Amino acid sequence: MIIAVDGPTASGKGTISRELAEHFKLPLMDTGLLYRAVGWTVKQIGGNPDIEADALKGCIFDDDLLRDPALRNEDIGGYASKISVHPAVRSALDQRQRDFACQAGGAVLDGRDIGTVIAPNADVKLFVTASPEARAVRRFEEMICSGEQVNFDDILADILRRDDRDQNRATAPLKPAADADLLDTTELTIDAAVQQAIALVNAKMGGR
Ligand code: DC
Repeated sequence: MIIAVDGPTASGKGTISRELAEHFKLPLMDTGLLYRAVGWTVKQIGGNPDIEADALKGCIFDDDLLRDPALRNEDIGGYASKISVHPAVRSALDQRQRDFACQAGGAVLDGRDIGTVIAPNADVKLFVTASPEARAVRRFEEMICSGEQVNFDDILADILRRDDRDQNRATAPLKPAADADLLDTTELTIDAAVQQAIALVNAKMGGR
């Protein structure tokens, strides 16, 4: 069983993917980490993430980097969003994601274009969304709890900028697959969102 989970930043898709993987005993790939590793590497070598040739240089990284907490920084998320618009970067990361999706026994993949490009034949496709304001509140609370000095308006502006770039890029933009189930988490607690996601997967698989 392949489960594709796509959606914008701070929609809850990361937690939902983790919980689905645990519940259905499937391996999980957070594909955003691949883009973040490229973004981190480009930053490290002083490259310009808006230039495709520079971004491509970031595609050569050690797998240990994928476990580095530094990849989770907001700043690296911005780099990741920038390098991810380049078709050559996307194709450099494609095969690795497809191989993961196709392993025996199935997998959960969390990303932006899993249901549309990487695994168009996935058994279940969830598109997880929430209003930009709800997502900004979540990100704000997360950052406050980790002791960072943050301004709500800056976070909201950053989320809107990132959505705009991810949704409007020419290659593999963020959008629901035609056959995706939408899960809007704006009014849901994370537990309720996870329960709904599990129910959607069960309904899809039971309906076969
Ligand atoms: O999910 P995330 O915040 O870790 O992703 C960071 C950026 O990487 C996101 O803004 C766009 C890009 N990305 C992508 O283009 N395709 C994916 N499958 C995953 C992430």
